[in-house]
Amino acid sequence: MRNNKPIGVFDSGIGGMTVLSKLAEVFPCEDFIYVGDTLNCPYGVKSPEEIADLVTRVVHYLLSQDVKAIVIACNTATANSAHLKAFVKIPVVGVIEPTAKYALKTSRNKNIAVLATNATIDSKSYHKLIDKKRIVKRGKKYFVKCSEFVTAIEDKQFTNDYSFKLVKDKLEFLSDKNIDTVVLGCTHFGLYTQEISRVLPQAKLVDCGGPTSQLLKKIIKKEGLMADDFHTGTIRIATTGDPKQMEQQIDWFDKEYQGIFKVNI
Ligand code: DGL
Repeated sequence: MRNNKPIGVFDSGIGGMTVLSKLAEVFPCEDFIYVGDTLNCPYGVKSPEEIADLVTRVVHYLLSQDVKAIVIACNTATANSAHLKAFVKIPVVGVIEPTAKYALKTSRNKNIAVLATNATIDSKSYHKLIDKKRIVKRGKKYFVKCSEFVTAIEDKQFTNDYSFKLVKDKLEFLSDKNIDTVVLGCTHFGLYTQEISRVLPQAKLVDCGGPTSQLLKKIIKKEGLMADDFHTGTIRIATTGDPKQMEQQIDWFDKEYQGIFKVNI
């Protein structure tokens, strides 16, 4: 069975486009519709109730666009998405589980740092998967709240003096902890790889795009939801904020897309 309906992808802002970039590589025949809820960004400093409500609204919008599956390209939204099961009947793939599992497999010494928003860390979603005492007996885990990175990234502060200092000041305490794996537990942080690597040069950085794409592949294959092989995939981008501003925020995005339009959710 084949299905050429689009796949919905969303984030609080532009961070999820690091995941979208990977998805477009793994699924060249799929159409994507991406929603950046930039009007309400950042999610990571909001309460679980507020975040769950915003997630519901974006998901309703995507369902109205007749998507065949949804990728929550946001850790903070994923951590507050359990309620979706009650009303969403299509596959929904979050980023936390595949990323955490991949990081655990990747790490040799099991000294792992998870960098995420305040809300993601508070949800303990990564703790539950990475710090399972019965399974992972070795190594030390560090869970670091880095919501201030999100605001800086939305303001296009990357690979400059400000961003290098911001990340160094925050993460320097990890530099003598023999960490071999850093989980970029916020999809925005895919834009801080240079900054993080400068502080922790020996660590492998694990971002959400790869593991999440592989999980989505497994699911849509199993469900018979893959697009036709001859279909050329497209990307449409929606924002709840200002399309012009978003265009400037994503000038690093390396895939072709069909413009940015405004949505009210
Ligand atoms: N990109 C989002 C994540 O992966 C969060 C950014 C925010 O705080 O809105 O958690």
